[in-house]
Amino acid sequence: MRIPLIAGNWKMHGTLASATQLIEALKADAQELQGVDVVVLPPLVHLNLVHTLLNQSRIKLGAQNLYIGPQGAFTGEVSGPMLRDVGCRYVLVGHSERRSFFHEDLGIIAAKFKAALDANLTPILCVGETKQQREKNLTERVIGEQIETVIAMAGVESFARAVIAYEPVWAIGTGLTATPQQAQAVHAHIRKIFAQNNVDLAKALRILYGGSMKADNASALLAQPDIDGGLIGGASLEAGSFLSICRAAQEAKRVSTSAVAEKRG
Ligand code: PGA
Repeated sequence: MRIPLIAGNWKMHGTLASATQLIEALKADAQELQGVDVVVLPPLVHLNLVHTLLNQSRIKLGAQNLYIGPQGAFTGEVSGPMLRDVGCRYVLVGHSERRSFFHEDLGIIAAKFKAALDANLTPILCVGETKQQREKNLTERVIGEQIETVIAMAGVESFARAVIAYEPVWAIGTGLTATPQQAQAVHAHIRKIFAQNNVDLAKALRILYGGSMKADNASALLAQPDIDGGLIGGASLEAGSFLSICRAAQEAKRVSTSAVAEKRG
């Protein structure tokens, strides 16, 4: 049984005041969200504040990026142990905005994945194809390569402590969403890559969908058997829409669990 996970990637948005407002609103309803793991990923400068505000809430904290080493003369960077020290449990690795705007290549991303695990953080490894790659039928190959380089550096067993987010680049922040069928096909492919190595690990691995997931399309996406949650950008900045997506996850996975129970009789 995979517990659904909904993570809010705030990207480079907000102020101390707006972060406070958003967390207070999420906290007010968080108790109702039994059966869903909820994570927020604020900008670095808001992590400490958000950690204090979350206090004993069931919402967990994560960061959007980390450096590959634990400490040293790396001006402007922040390490895994530092993130852990301010209360983070999760960290994004390989988001497509990092791959494209900040030129993070496969090797750097694999090293960051390993650095996250070394710091006892759960990496959320983002993978996905561009529009051109999809049109050229390269989706499976591109995603395979993105995953295989991480497996080569960190080992397949390390994914027992990680999460994957499938984020088609053409769907991020564009309002375009993969159809539930398109997303399911890629999620099933990702699970297959792991099943070739370790069937139990593949079954337990949480694979999130990201790319314009909103309150109105979340239920259909989350109803797919291999979609275990969402990485939410734009819609995570507004408490009402983020909570709706969390409820959709709760509902979709509750229904599918009871359907399985019924089928088993
Ligand atoms: P979006 O962003 O929901 O705004 O498309 C998703 C992401 O980049 O993680």
